Amino acid sequence: MTVVMGIETSCDETGVGFVEDGVLLGDALASSMDEHARFGGVVPEIAARAHLQAMVPTVRTALGRAGIGLGDVGAVAVTAGPGLATALHVGVAAAKAYALALGVPLYGVHHLAGHAAADTLEHGPLPERSIGLIVSGGHTSLLSVRDLVRTPIVHLSDTYDDAAGEAFDKVARLLGLPYPGGPSIDKAAREGDRDAIRFPRPLTGAGDPELAFSFSGLKTAVARYAEKHPDADVNDVAASFQEAVADVLTAKALRACRQEDVDTLVIVGGVAANSRIRELARERCDAAGIELRIPPMRLCTDNGAMIAAIGDLLVRDGAAPSKPDFSAIPTVELQLAQLS
Ligand code: KG4
Ligand code: ZN
Repeated sequence: MTVVMGIETSCDETGVGFVEDGVLLGDALASSMDEHARFGGVVPEIAARAHLQAMVPTVRTALGRAGIGLGDVGAVAVTAGPGLATALHVGVAAAKAYALALGVPLYGVHHLAGHAAADTLEHGPLPERSIGLIVSGGHTSLLSVRDLVRTPIVHLSDTYDDAAGEAFDKVARLLGLPYPGGPSIDKAAREGDRDAIRFPRPLTGAGDPELAFSFSGLKTAVARYAEKHPDADVNDVAASFQEAVADVLTAKALRACRQEDVDTLVIVGGVAANSRIRELARERCDAAGIELRIPPMRLCTDNGAMIAAIGDLLVRDGAAPSKPDFSAIPTVELQLAQLS
């Protein structure tokens, strides 16, 4: 059996994890989130410098938690894309250095395949067929998934404009809630009434594409409402906005399961950490007899364990390592787990 080291640096989290045969041995995470807060969003150059500073200490912490040494590592996997170019380059360079120094194979992997693989650490191998709902800061997609490493993933739909996480971040900003917006809205919403305001459910009308998403208009509707009602309770606005997102995401995910005749739904990505989305997905899946899989919250947002998890699946499948001169690819649609 091979211990796979996973390295994740696509955005503002430096993640390192160790997985062996589907089991997470240990992981560690450093975040430059606080350094970006005053800019209201991730500054790529700051993120890259922070990754550089955090890389070696984060590897050491993860090794300590896993109770292993570098000599135990048998393969290295790294996020090759998508993500911020400056940030990805740091992880790819570090992964190449570790792989070369240790004399072990290296795998450049797709970040979103890592998000999906995170769930296997908690719930074991995916069934033969499942519907994946990926909801992160940069992506919102419904996917038809068969095998994460062998069969190309089919995109059933994507967002036309903002990703769900982006909508959370932008709405939080316009409501004056602290960065990062997703967790802030989740927290504020707990004190609010989700039925206070009926915000639009985008692309749910007759004749609209059934599985497609759009969040830009919803964001504008919240902005208009906040402008018109300066004294509105922020918690009510946050809860009502969150309800609109949760409603649309879960309704369309269930529709995809029905359309594809699949009885497992896997929700992954940073927005899958949202408490209301988790709750509503649970209710609706239970009612529809669909098995719901969502990774534990700390494995939903970016981390190194998920990259080690997809690396471990590739290694166990006998995939050929990536060429040592591969580069980061900042924009790339998820089809195959291995990028290069
Ligand atoms: O997957 P992720 O960590 O990074 C990307 O690959 O984009 O997702 C980050 C996104 C951010 O937009 C953040 O606001 C959102 O996930 N997020 C949440 C929650 N926690 C993180 N959105 C809603 N509710 C949450 N609890
Ligand atoms: Zn992510």
